[in-house]
Amino acid sequence: MGNFSQSKEITMDSIANYYREINRGFLNKAWRQGPTIGFELYYKSQNGGVEPKFLKFADYEPETREKIWTLLETDGHERLYIHENDLIAYYEKFLIANLVQSLEDEEPFQKVLKDAYQVARMLLNEYFDNIGSTRILRSLDDVVDIMIVCILQGKLEPADIFQITEKDKSHPSHCANAGLYNMFLGVKLNLKSDDIQQLGLGGLLYDIGKKSIPKNVLEKQGKLSPEEWQFIRKHPSAGRKVLNDMKCYSPAILKMAGEHHEKFDGSGYPLGLAGEKISLFARVTAISDVFNALVCNRSHHEARTAFGALMEMKEKMPGHFDPKILLSFIKAFVPAKK
Ligand code: C2E
Ligand code: SIN
Ligand code: SIN
Ligand code: FE
Repeated sequence: MGNFSQSKEITMDSIANYYREINRGFLNKAWRQGPTIGFELYYKSQNGGVEPKFLKFADYEPETREKIWTLLETDGHERLYIHENDLIAYYEKFLIANLVQSLEDEEPFQKVLKDAYQVARMLLNEYFDNIGSTRILRSLDDVVDIMIVCILQGKLEPADIFQITEKDKSHPSHCANAGLYNMFLGVKLNLKSDDIQQLGLGGLLYDIGKKSIPKNVLEKQGKLSPEEWQFIRKHPSAGRKVLNDMKCYSPAILKMAGEHHEKFDGSGYPLGLAGEKISLFARVTAISDVFNALVCNRSHHEARTAFGALMEMKEKMPGHFDPKILLSFIKAFVPAKK
């Protein structure tokens, strides 16, 4: 591949890459309520079956919108697309606006949290796999606020949280899960709302440096070579740099990215910081990170149960974590039987 991929000709396949199929379930509310949509909707025309074309819906004044909607509802096979240029508007004006609306409509907190979690994954997925621009990550701020309201006001329990998390090995799921665990712990410990927000936002973002690790390294079965480990060892600093360049995140969040692989006994990387030299939120995130790694499948290991993962962290990883925070984490996730 190398330079080759940069000069690739524009094929229909690559044009298709600029369009995203959107989830119509999400569309429902905002479609009917918003005075303007804020972006263009497309449908795919097979055009005789050779080259697909993306055609814009001509017009969607409120009355036309109602007509299009009826059309879409009657033809279950019609798919809707948006262009990449409209992505941020789509997330903010539709997906996030719908979440806010769901809260106002007093839908169950568990359901809203699940939807918000999926929106967080989709935003992260855009960053990791598609456009790669950091601007899309700014929308996570709003999603975090919504998720916290749900956990707090819904008085959600560990089982509610586990039910929501996807256990696949993708980066978006890994980040979204760790963010969710961080927020849950923050709520359980009754932290100040600012702190819960930072823990949540930093939790969604701390591992974005993994984008810099080559796929063949991440997917390798078995032991990594020292050269391959070099890529892994750089991802905390790589993530920290990306966030720092965005110039909108607090030092606490930057440290969560930069220090999440430091270990309490000083044996971690990249700096070998120990104890309270590692920032508090990075110590929390180290726990959410490993916990989530263990309960998910990886190319190099099988998934554990939540309980199995916590026991392994406590018994088999001495020196890895801040013991007080680990204990709080275990108590939050394994509530005492009454
Ligand atoms: P990850 O898979 O998300 O794992 C995050 C952290 O969870 C790891 O950080 C490690 O502290 C812990 N962890 C994950 N799996 C296990 C396990 O089976 N046993 C124990 N005791 N701890 C586990 P670490 O080691 O710094 O690795 C960072 C990232 O590097 C990993 O993220 C993964 O993407 C990659 N990686 C690490 N080891 C391997 C490997 O042997 N093969 C491959 N292909 N990738 C690896
Ligand atoms: C998408 O629908 O665009 C992505 C699906 C997901 O990551 O959940
Ligand atoms: C891994 O398998 O991800 C590494 C294990 C470890 O850090 O102990
Ligand atoms: Fe990491």
